[in-house]
Amino acid sequence: MQQSIEEIDTPAVLVDLDVLDRNLRTKAELAERAGVKLRPHVKTHKSKWIAREQLRYGACGITVAKLGEAEVMADAGITDILVAYPIVGKQKLERLGRLMQRATVAVSTDDLEVAKGLSELGQYLKRKIPVYVDVNTGLNRCGREPGLETAGVVREMSRLQGIEVVGLMTHAGYAYTKSNVVDMRRDAFKEAEGLLRTKEELQRIGIDIREISVGSTPTSRFIHELEGVTEMRPGAYVFGDGMQTACGTAREDNCALHVLATVVSTPRAGTAIIDAGSKTLSSDTNPHRSGYGTLRGQPDVYIERLSEEHGIVRIPDGIRFNIGDRLMFLPNHCCTTVNLHSHLYGLRSDKVERMISVDCRGMVR
Ligand SMILES: Cc1ncc(COP(=O)(O)O)c(C=O)c1O
Repeated sequence: MQQSIEEIDTPAVLVDLDVLDRNLRTKAELAERAGVKLRPHVKTHKSKWIAREQLRYGACGITVAKLGEAEVMADAGITDILVAYPIVGKQKLERLGRLMQRATVAVSTDDLEVAKGLSELGQYLKRKIPVYVDVNTGLNRCGREPGLETAGVVREMSRLQGIEVVGLMTHAGYAYTKSNVVDMRRDAFKEAEGLLRTKEELQRIGIDIREISVGSTPTSRFIHELEGVTEMRPGAYVFGDGMQTACGTAREDNCALHVLATVVSTPRAGTAIIDAGSKTLSSDTNPHRSGYGTLRGQPDVYIERLSEEHGIVRIPDGIRFNIGDRLMFLPNHCCTTVNLHSHLYGLRSDKVERMISVDCRGMVR
């Protein structure tokens, strides 16, 4: 007998498998129509099973943030991996060397010193390590400026024997602050334009760049309009979340992931306490609205504050909850919520069809 939703103890993270499936298929079809490779960022789900599903739908490989995630995914037989993160230090370089024995691994950096470390490893392994150079198109995280500045760094890197600069990459995380299609499309063009301008500078000095890799869920919907981009790396599209619904990237019915919680106290009018706090939902906020999550189908009921194990829910007049009520909340950020759990409940028609293991949970090194 399959466990039904009523039998799941709370708090729990539930995944609607039909919605998940539709999200995976839709993004893969969009990439195919645009003639662009899909290399999804698996830090969202950290699950071997979902990563394999993404490949089954046509992803060319995966993106990870950390070597530890790459190692877990290589254990699952996934052999084309971009570690979109600088690899710094002897321990990590040794692990990268070992990982490269069993998978094709590219890594990103914006820095010549980091590239030198990679090049030494490449020379030791007698192969060229593929490198994506990170470009800042507005997030102001890693990445030198587009155009001449990044081209200068790539020119220096191209002299190193043990690496090959195969791509330019950027992440338009800034698109999440936008709330209309015009601004979001502008961010998608900004992302692509920064990379393409850099590629042109490099062409002028005889350096050819194969991959132009953009990536964020909000900007990925415009991929078919972006000439010259070869690859996209969306991550959060698989589940959807409150940030995506608030910025207009997903509708609530595209959201596959919810947190099931139980009302454990109703101490004051307009307030209910649920058994899901920051250790269940994460403390990530939403740039577009206050609170930490909204009730499914009724977004004016929202989690106003969090303690570690308590969610303080604000309830408008005319709505009442009772002790023991079980409520489904859409969290602000699916990636950080998933990271707090070792298993997700995969449901179809309110029955648990599979447990989804969060295999890369805790893989921060
Ligand atoms: C380098 C990089 N690529 C791709 C992504 C995926 O972006 P999103 O989760 O918006 O789809 C991220 C997200 O943090 C990222 O850091």
